[in-house]
Amino acid sequence: MELLKGIYSVGVQNPTLRVFDIIMKTPHGTSYNAYLIRGEEKTALVETAKEGFLEEYLKNIGEIIPFEQVDYLIINHTEPDHAGIIPVLLEKNPDLQIVGSAGAINFIGEIIKRPFNGRAVKKGDTLDLGGRTLSFYPMPNLHWPDTMFTFDSLTRALFTCDFLGAHYSFSPLLLSRVEDREGYLDAVKQYYMDIMSPFAQPFVINGVKAVRELDPSMVLTGHGAVLDTMIGEICDVYERLAEKPKKEGKTAAVIYVSAYGYTRSLAEAISGVLTDTGIKVSLIELNDGNREQAMAAVGEADGILFGSPTFLGDVLQPIGELLAAIHPYQLKGKLCSAFGSYGWSGEAVGNINSRLEQLKSRTIEGFRVRFRPSAAELENVRAFARTFAENL
Ligand code: FEO
Repeated sequence: MELLKGIYSVGVQNPTLRVFDIIMKTPHGTSYNAYLIRGEEKTALVETAKEGFLEEYLKNIGEIIPFEQVDYLIINHTEPDHAGIIPVLLEKNPDLQIVGSAGAINFIGEIIKRPFNGRAVKKGDTLDLGGRTLSFYPMPNLHWPDTMFTFDSLTRALFTCDFLGAHYSFSPLLLSRVEDREGYLDAVKQYYMDIMSPFAQPFVINGVKAVRELDPSMVLTGHGAVLDTMIGEICDVYERLAEKPKKEGKTAAVIYVSAYGYTRSLAEAISGVLTDTGIKVSLIELNDGNREQAMAAVGEADGILFGSPTFLGDVLQPIGELLAAIHPYQLKGKLCSAFGSYGWSGEAVGNINSRLEQLKSRTIEGFRVRFRPSAAELENVRAFARTFAENL
């Protein structure tokens, strides 16, 4: 399909995929978008496809030009859904020059594990295809350090790979042909949350700014629809999601489970002290239905306290699973600690704090009490909460 003058879609649809990268749900499937750009003298591919889709990818290219005659492969991002078939491509076309950011060229070397003809580009570098020139804009951390944008001078097409994409299998690829725009925007938002949200500030904001400054006629993404319309609206969505919530004063989340109410009484005492010191508190007793609320609170709060009784020498599963789902980017610079009641040996609080150290949060020593907290122990947990508030 010719999308713009001399720019062809050669990617592959994967409509039946329901889970991407082990953890992301993809109810609409996905696509591995790739493009062929023909100049008067040279031809470049942009992106490849995931392993398992090689034949269809080569067949699509072959409808336009024999693959052996392609001169360049531009890789805007080297995650293997876009780069995994490069070793086979180089066997078929050993002269193919691979163009990417310095990070991308490094990563590709680790994927193919042998010397190759690579060109590392930096901001402002260009590639002349004859009658059209491609320019490169490294955009680190969208969402890998290797990421870059590629811009075509002739058509003002902008290739962004994952950025502004969505897991959404759709043919004939153009967003203007998608009838369910609301459904598509939901997929864009989910994709943003799954892939880009850890890099909101400043990277996503910088990426949106770069897109607006380049003022493309079309955004050719690595997944989902090609944005032949609604570029501004999708940039707005990214900006809204990436904005830091405006808030006055500090916020904290107290997230806990409690089997017999003892850990709950600690949570309530902590929450009361934090509130009295002017901190806005989200007090959440974790259950099957509010895990997303808890994750959102972790994202928004300046300080987080996790509470769990000790069960068979460890933290209880809901808090353990929540901590397993949190990644270091979410806790960067935040103050965290742990509390809980226990009966015998009381490992939960220490184990939570060990996990918090893995997550690179700032931590203060946790608080634990045997069985039901006494009046004196409740006074001690209030002192712990005041220490937390002071550190916050
Ligand atoms: Fe579509 Fe980050 O790979």
